Amino acid sequence: MFDKVKAEARRLEGRRIVDMFDDARASEFSVEALGMLFDYSKTQMDAGARDALLALLDARGVAARRDAMFAGEKINETEGRAVLHTALRNLDGTPVMVDGRDVMPEVLATLARMEALAEEIRASDVTDVVNIGIGGSDLGPVMAVLALAPYHDGPRTHFVSNVDGADITDTLQGLNPETTVFIVASKTFTTIETMTNAQTAKDWLAAQGTSAEGKFIALSSNKEKAAAFGIPEARVFGFEDWVGGRYSVWGPIGLSLMLAVGPEDFRAFLQGAQAMDRHFRTAPWAENLPAVLALVGIWHNQGQGHATRAVLPYDNRLMRLPAYLQQLEMESNGKGVSMDGTNLPYDSGPVVWGEPGTNGQHAFYQLIHQGTRVIPCEFMVAAQGHEPDLRHHHELLVANCLAQSEALMRGRSLEEARAKVAGTFEGAELERQALHRVFPGNRPSTTLIYDRLDPEALGKIVALYEHRVFVEGVILDINSYDQWGVELGKELATALGPLVKGEAAIEGKDGSTAQLLRFVRARA
Ligand code: F6P
Repeated sequence: MFDKVKAEARRLEGRRIVDMFDDARASEFSVEALGMLFDYSKTQMDAGARDALLALLDARGVAARRDAMFAGEKINETEGRAVLHTALRNLDGTPVMVDGRDVMPEVLATLARMEALAEEIRASDVTDVVNIGIGGSDLGPVMAVLALAPYHDGPRTHFVSNVDGADITDTLQGLNPETTVFIVASKTFTTIETMTNAQTAKDWLAAQGTSAEGKFIALSSNKEKAAAFGIPEARVFGFEDWVGGRYSVWGPIGLSLMLAVGPEDFRAFLQGAQAMDRHFRTAPWAENLPAVLALVGIWHNQGQGHATRAVLPYDNRLMRLPAYLQQLEMESNGKGVSMDGTNLPYDSGPVVWGEPGTNGQHAFYQLIHQGTRVIPCEFMVAAQGHEPDLRHHHELLVANCLAQSEALMRGRSLEEARAKVAGTFEGAELERQALHRVFPGNRPSTTLIYDRLDPEALGKIVALYEHRVFVEGVILDINSYDQWGVELGKELATALGPLVKGEAAIEGKDGSTAQLLRFVRARA
């Protein structure tokens, strides 16, 4: 599948990116759409390589698969489900059919119910909202709530995800039980971390003599379990199995965001995503932001063999975006078999990691610049900040972002390094010192620039990455919408529970696990 792309990568091996620039390259290797500019000219891709990549879209039938997704076909074949997070932001309500039924009336009715509850809570004396959830029931809202801090005018919002009791203990510290509301966010309403934390929240209220009545809201596909937990139907917001956990921030799972920023800004967030959906469905591939982002990903991973990519937002409020994208990308495309169950004859999706700039510069960029492995970097930055009085901060931020991609591309030659140290050292020592100051350069990066991180822009960015994952998944012939790889650990954790407690014999466990259990049990 990737022979041609790999051949292109071999053809371009050693080619200096910096030398590939003529007057046209920057604009020819950029896509400008929806108020955003995606510049991938600082990669080693040339027109021939891009053609080979574009050909993959047709060869893999990406357009037909995309249309099938939007049409509600069951493209999540291992779970027999449609994939319709896009319906959650289909604000016009144009019909979307699943099994012959239009799902839109219910989607919009749920959105209206969420808005009514959000208005009610925002107008009440509730001071704090605690979202209890994990994975997709946590990362989306926590990422978005942090991203949209300038738009907060609702109650304080907190997030508890880890089963480590430290998480909920630290969160509840200082909260007033009378004015705190808990959201139990769990698609399945069975996730052990979430159910344990939800019960602890209930116990905390009881311990303070506060009734749990009216204090819990459930966001779940499992209405029965939510009812069994004692949450009345009016406070349960359901969604269908065609919303994957890591794609769920657009619906009920986004309630904490709606409470923080208000229904109007939440709608703007949905509108941004909807605009990206339209763009993805209609823009020609070469001008299609998600498709091009995906092709850059395929180029770096399957084409050039770079196993990881760094996502580096120069936007402090996107501090949790890398973690969000880790789940989105790695839970979606971290699969070892193709749709028909045979082993993938190529690498699956890459390792995704990152931190906001400029902090990362003072931590791990050393390796990105001078380490032996090439790490394609995906920078993102807003043209404007939200702090007009701190314009100089934003200018420095932008300058740093652009400087990094320039430095990665240009590097520093031995000659330049010698000139740097010429006044300080001489002879063999000069040479040795200079060698340490050489930057190989020719390290690829892309930059996404948007106007300002407002709710609409955030919606566009998140939907952009969702569709990128989709396109990469189709090209890789992977089912991006199941996550069987998380099951085994869950099963073993359940089985290990009694052993940790000392209620069952350790015998039969492998030597390492047995040793660790004995150590814990001796000190518990
Ligand atoms: O870790 C697996 C997973 O199923 C994720 O896909 C999901 O986002 C998370 O657990 C939480 O699941 P739930 O919303 O059902 O509690």
